[in-house]
Amino acid sequence: GKIRASTNIICTISDDRGEEPTYAGIPMSEMIEQEYSVGDVLALLWFKRQLPKYATRFLEMCLIICADHGPCVSGAHNAIIAARAGKDLVSCVASGLLTIGPRFGGAIDDAARDFKAACDAGMAADEFVESMKKLGKRIAGIGHRIKTAENPDKRVQLLSEYADRHFPTTKYLNFAKSVEAYTLTKSNNLILNVDGCIGALFCDFLVSSQCFTDEEIQEVLDIGTMNGLFVQARTIGLIGHALDQKRLKQPLYRHPWDDILYAEEYLTREQKEE
Ligand code: ACO
Ligand code: LMR
Repeated sequence: GKIRASTNIICTISDDRGEEPTYAGIPMSEMIEQEYSVGDVLALLWFKRQLPKYATRFLEMCLIICADHGPCVSGAHNAIIAARAGKDLVSCVASGLLTIGPRFGGAIDDAARDFKAACDAGMAADEFVESMKKLGKRIAGIGHRIKTAENPDKRVQLLSEYADRHFPTTKYLNFAKSVEAYTLTKSNNLILNVDGCIGALFCDFLVSSQCFTDEEIQEVLDIGTMNGLFVQARTIGLIGHALDQKRLKQPLYRHPWDDILYAEEYLTREQKEE
């Protein structure tokens, strides 16, 4: 057999050495001829396989609905401030992306893991919520700064309706909704948020699509795949905000004094008391 020199890097998703690049073995010309969508390409490069149309459409819906949520949210705010500080496009986008995490946009993987584990263990929603409370942990995928039971998140509604129509089953979404029904009895902003909805539906897709083995499903959950959807989507909006500020020739941002509680004196007094 062939004796290969050991390599420093292994790549299993794409190859650029031939006449044309391939993604998961599919030549680029074939992707163009057969009109592959962004969802199809994402499936090849993230999951190394082709996925059914309903699944790639779901991925694209996530990209569309998470692309932006106005100028006030953490990511856009950072991108805007960076743009107004004269930074280049990549720096503005990076500044925005770095806010994505457990509170903002980056709760999808934890929501997926926790909802799946609780649902698979046959826990009731109230049992799950109370167990998280005992652990002193907030429930990933629950809660929103401005969305409430009376002012619901349209994105969650759109994704849920799509899954009801196209997914083989929505067991995990149903569980997440039962969690929401319970948390809403505590406070009206403890809704199932878009991160939680995507996380639950991703589990439904992974388990019911028959495209993945049990080991592969576990791997998708373990390595933290799904936050990538928010990162991918929100990059579109962050670029938009950075370009917007540059077009508008906005000056350097300085936060107004009257919006800061200057508490140096207070803190010093407290420290003295210690
Ligand atoms: N689980 C349990 N209790 C919660 C949760 C939660 N997810 N969120 C809020 N609460 C309760 C807590 O009792 C909290 O009191 P505490 O501060 O003593 O823990 C109380 O509600 C008030 O919380 P606030 O911090 O005022 O709520 P806020 O409006 O600031 O939080 C946030 C919004 C950050 C989204 C919060 O609900 C949270 O951390 N959720 C989990 C993370 C998450 O899903 N983030 C994604 C949001 S969607 C997106 O970013 C696209
Ligand atoms: C978002 O998509 O950025 C949000 O759901 C967060 C927010 O506070 O609106």
